[in-house]
Amino acid sequence: MTTTTGTPAADIEFHYDLGNDFYALWLDETLSYSAAVWDGIARDEPDTTALPRAQRAKLALHLDLAGAAPGAGLRLLDVGCGWGGLLAHAVAGRRVAEATGLTLSRAQHAHVTGLGLPGVEVRLESWEAHRPERPYDAVVSVGAFEHFATAGLSRPERVAAYRAYFEHCHGWLRPGARMSLQTIAYDGVAGGDGPVGSFVAADVFPGAVLPRLDEIATACDPYFSVAVLRASAEDYSRTLGAWSARLLRARAEAQALVGEDGFRRYRRYLRACEVTFLRGAATLYRFGFVRRDEPLRLPV
Ligand SMILES: C[S@@+](CC[C@H](N)C(=O)[O-])C[C@H]1O[C@@H](n2cnc3c(N)ncnc32)[C@H](O)[C@@H]1O
Repeated sequence: MTTTTGTPAADIEFHYDLGNDFYALWLDETLSYSAAVWDGIARDEPDTTALPRAQRAKLALHLDLAGAAPGAGLRLLDVGCGWGGLLAHAVAGRRVAEATGLTLSRAQHAHVTGLGLPGVEVRLESWEAHRPERPYDAVVSVGAFEHFATAGLSRPERVAAYRAYFEHCHGWLRPGARMSLQTIAYDGVAGGDGPVGSFVAADVFPGAVLPRLDEIATACDPYFSVAVLRASAEDYSRTLGAWSARLLRARAEAQALVGEDGFRRYRRYLRACEVTFLRGAATLYRFGFVRRDEPLRLPV
């Protein structure tokens, strides 16, 4: 497993390999570790039912954005598949006949392999190294783009890194294909140098880098047109609020798994991120893209 750009593999393992049992305590049963879609879900519905419903709505939205309708039976790539929730949802709805998931986390790789999903292959591999034997009909990537640039890059260097991702996606997909992307991005602040950003970078999520909207737009433009763009900071603040409540309820089990210090670090991290979305410093973007037949020659 090699990465030349983006979050180093060791930093990915630091965060995601803390233990599947720990994450299972406070994520929902799909083990989705990204913002859910809360449209139409009442605020007074208990998180035990509301969070899984909102996460399933998110999984369905991304598959729809990528053109993988129920029964479509497509060939799908999930870049940054986490614990496999989207792959499982896609298989269950016969939206895909074949699917590949990529992750850099050994713990996630072992978990998804253990699910034994029919037609699904999970690879411990970076998107940079992925060379499929045949084109895909659809690509999704949810909550992984935050790992695709290396910390400390200048804006043009970040755009070049993101552009390389879109170039790879263009090469993987058949003509006319669709693709979805979900990512956190800076919004009301210029960057992540404040105390919250420094704490998250040092203690919880080393090596993660947030884009700005214009960087994504510039990076994708040669290869994809944007068919759908949704912004919702609230979708992430509600998700983080639900995760916090669940972690607090599972305090004793969490402390047994990651110690008092680990429990406190995650409580602080989830709360700090929730506040970041509530005050508009960061937002969440969901994109639906359509592959351009011929790439455009455009400056970075
Ligand atoms: C926040 S998790 C999101 C997981 C899942 N998509 C979800 O919504 O629950 C980020 C995922 O991106 C993966 N990832 C990060 N960098 C990657 C890279 N260069 N290539 C492939 N996957 C990567 C991580 O291993 C992890 O599975």
